[in-house]
Amino acid sequence: MGFDIPEPYVWDESFKVFYDNLDEEHKSLFKAVFDCAGDRGSSDKLANLVSVTVNHFTNEEAMMQKAKYSDFPAHKSAHEGFVAKIKGLKTPLDDATVHFAKEWLVNHIKTTDFKYKGSL
Ligand SMILES: [Fe+2]
Ligand SMILES: [Fe+2]
Repeated sequence: MGFDIPEPYVWDESFKVFYDNLDEEHKSLFKAVFDCAGDRGSSDKLANLVSVTVNHFTNEEAMMQKAKYSDFPAHKSAHEGFVAKIKGLKTPLDDATVHFAKEWLVNHIKTTDFKYKGSL
């Protein structure tokens, strides 16, 4: 997919979904991936990534459900796939894994999350 991966890996305004709580959580997700990328052997940083990801998805899914958002099932299953993947990771993380996580988050926000803009 064709979106640029920020380098350094930091959230910027091109990722805005215009819900302040979700934008703040997306910033935290970028930071958690950035921290893992810079410390590949840290199981604490990997555990933190899993934790902030699960927390964000829980909140985002609750907002979609509350709004009776029609794409909720597909969106939730995209979340579940990513959570399963990162929960199965072991340190040290390799380049392919770090790249996968960076790319997944960029593409997920700019394609899947962007669809709910204005609807929640
Ligand atoms: Fe999402
Ligand atoms: Fe999101």
